Amino acid sequence: MRIDVLTLFPEIIESYASTSILGIAREKKLFELISHNFRDFSSDKHKCVDDVIYGGGAGMLLKCQPIFDCLDSIYNQIDKSSSTLIVTSPSGQKFDQKLAKELSQKQNLIFVCGRYEGLDQRIVDQADLNISIGDYVLTGGELAALTIIDASVRLIPGVLGDAQSLEQESFSEIDILALMEKYQVSKKELQEFLDRTGLKTKEDLKNVKFIEYPQYTRPAEFRGIRIPSVLESGDHKKIFLWRLEQSIKSNALI
Ligand code: ADE
Repeated sequence: MRIDVLTLFPEIIESYASTSILGIAREKKLFELISHNFRDFSSDKHKCVDDVIYGGGAGMLLKCQPIFDCLDSIYNQIDKSSSTLIVTSPSGQKFDQKLAKELSQKQNLIFVCGRYEGLDQRIVDQADLNISIGDYVLTGGELAALTIIDASVRLIPGVLGDAQSLEQESFSEIDILALMEKYQVSKKELQEFLDRTGLKTKEDLKNVKFIEYPQYTRPAEFRGIRIPSVLESGDHKKIFLWRLEQSIKSNALI
């Protein structure tokens, strides 16, 4: 995957994308990220990128010319028809894990990061997607773009370490009923479990996502706070049922 980011602050994008898991994945060429300062494309002698709003209104808007020219230079390098142009704004479609999965399978993503009062509508109208990362207003699109990039890139095969990605796969495909059998959970234990968790039948377990239970590392007691004793019991069935119960209580979404 190749990701292009149009921004007035490439250092924000570069800093995050070259750190930790994203940085390693980028070095391994599991994805390519190129940030472009669209100010460089301004034909204005002062490299101006914004202008007043037609019809009146407070503040300034990012104008078409630098961004359109920057996009043209990208389209000279990639196949425009296989690329997805994304703008971000609080009024866009809400970002979620399903959209992250879809984007992780694209060949080319291009983000235009807004600043000031936003983008000239003719830029917005070029976009395939307008995405919001939540019901609040940021000062610019960079954090939104990075959020979307982070959540999507981690789903590209190979980006997460082996252990993490296996875990991720098993979370989505895990067969809880098979695990119940593996741990030889008795009818009585199962009924008690269903009563405790508020599930009606065994079949309800099929819709449960086994993820997001609390985890602890050493020491077992820190500043007087002990880990749940079940985790030290060595009883794998009990630990499994405890984790599953916590997972159900957390309403995990993935
Ligand atoms: N730009 C400013 N606020 C935003 C938000 N909530 N989501 C996406 N982009 C934004």
